[in-house]
Amino acid sequence: MTQARGQFSSKIGFLMAAAGSAVGLGNIWGFPTQAANNGGAAFVLVYLVLAFVVAYPALMAEITLGRYARSNIVTALGGLSPTPWKRWAGWITGGMGLLVASLILGFYTIVAGWMLGAFIEPGASLIGADALGQWFVTDGFTRNLLLCFVFSAFCAWVIARGIEQGIEAWCTRLMPLLAAILIGLIVYVLQQPGASDGLRTYLIPDFSRITDPDLLLGAMGQAFFSLSLGAGAMLIYGSYLKRDDSLPRLGVEVTLLDTSIAFIAGLLVIPAMYVAQAQGATIFGEDGNLLAGPALIFQVLPSLFDGMGAAGPWVALAFFALMTIAALTSAISMLEVPVATLTEITGRPRTLITPLVSLAIFGLSTLLIFNMDALFDLTIVVATRFGQPLLGLALCLFAGWVLHRDKLLEEMREGHPGIERTLFWKIWPVYVRVICPLLILAVFVQSLR
Ligand code: PHE
Repeated sequence: MTQARGQFSSKIGFLMAAAGSAVGLGNIWGFPTQAANNGGAAFVLVYLVLAFVVAYPALMAEITLGRYARSNIVTALGGLSPTPWKRWAGWITGGMGLLVASLILGFYTIVAGWMLGAFIEPGASLIGADALGQWFVTDGFTRNLLLCFVFSAFCAWVIARGIEQGIEAWCTRLMPLLAAILIGLIVYVLQQPGASDGLRTYLIPDFSRITDPDLLLGAMGQAFFSLSLGAGAMLIYGSYLKRDDSLPRLGVEVTLLDTSIAFIAGLLVIPAMYVAQAQGATIFGEDGNLLAGPALIFQVLPSLFDGMGAAGPWVALAFFALMTIAALTSAISMLEVPVATLTEITGRPRTLITPLVSLAIFGLSTLLIFNMDALFDLTIVVATRFGQPLLGLALCLFAGWVLHRDKLLEEMREGHPGIERTLFWKIWPVYVRVICPLLILAVFVQSLR
């Protein structure tokens, strides 16, 4: 390795970067509609329990492995044990991590591009360039490619600048902005007619749904995707942590930030849908559920903004800025996974590797754009329904079984002296070895039915 490894300059830097990775389209788009369709606050409750009981321990496995090995996922997992078959298992699992991160990035940058387009449109209409604005929100190959390229190029520029100047600097700028826009929008939307019906749907629990397997599956998948698990992103961010920070505490803080922002996003999106309904928009699909997918973001909400008169373009601008920022800080964490690995393995400079990796992933996105019907959903399923849980499971096994318990304790003690006497240490090691893998497996098997 020819270059010194980067690291986060401060605890806040790590928190902003890790929360930036976690808070993404999954929180603002996925979570609120899942909640509204699955028993409202009952889902929120199950989600919170699963986030802390299953996802948090798995998050701890990732950040601990990362900080212990101080390297990318491939080198980290391959170097945990001297036993040849375990080394091979490590390399293969690490390679899978690269693949999962790249596949997610492949479709994520396309969706992020749409958000960027939806952000440009109200801006263009404010300066009178309506036709141009329309082009950015009308489906087409050129538009998709261009927006995806611009978004990817920006991610690459941030990543090429390194950990402190790139990831940390941008996440510490963008995350507070994201929170401010979110709160501002909530304050505005809650004053509109119809909003209180939305709040009711979101917040009144329907406990009869709580044992529904679909609810459990949905909540578990959501927790995994939302905390960026099983893609190596948290592992690589953990590897840039200083040794004087307490890992269990940071893990709790990231989980809390992520779940709170998901919850708060629900206070915006669900009331906004009901405001749209009060204006005459259809917000329920044929199955009686609230519209979720693209129809929600690209039909319901824009029709709401259109009905807001002079304020409309400004609200639309703020909303899609929020989505673009959320997507950006998540996408850079995915891009960091292959970039860090190839930089460390080849010893070539980050400034050379980043554009190459980025171009390769843009190639993948191009493939998806030209084969939307055949490949887009398939990639999402392969990466998030199979890849993430299986890799998350494997990472728990590596932290629990391959990394020696004494070494694990030694690593955890750094930044948290006396951890062996805490409740965390009494529970987590058994948890990550047995219970977490079994829970992930159970949910995974269920999801295949
Ligand atoms: N957590 C991000 C979201 O909620 C997605 C993500 C998945 C980011 C995997 C990094 C790795 O949108």
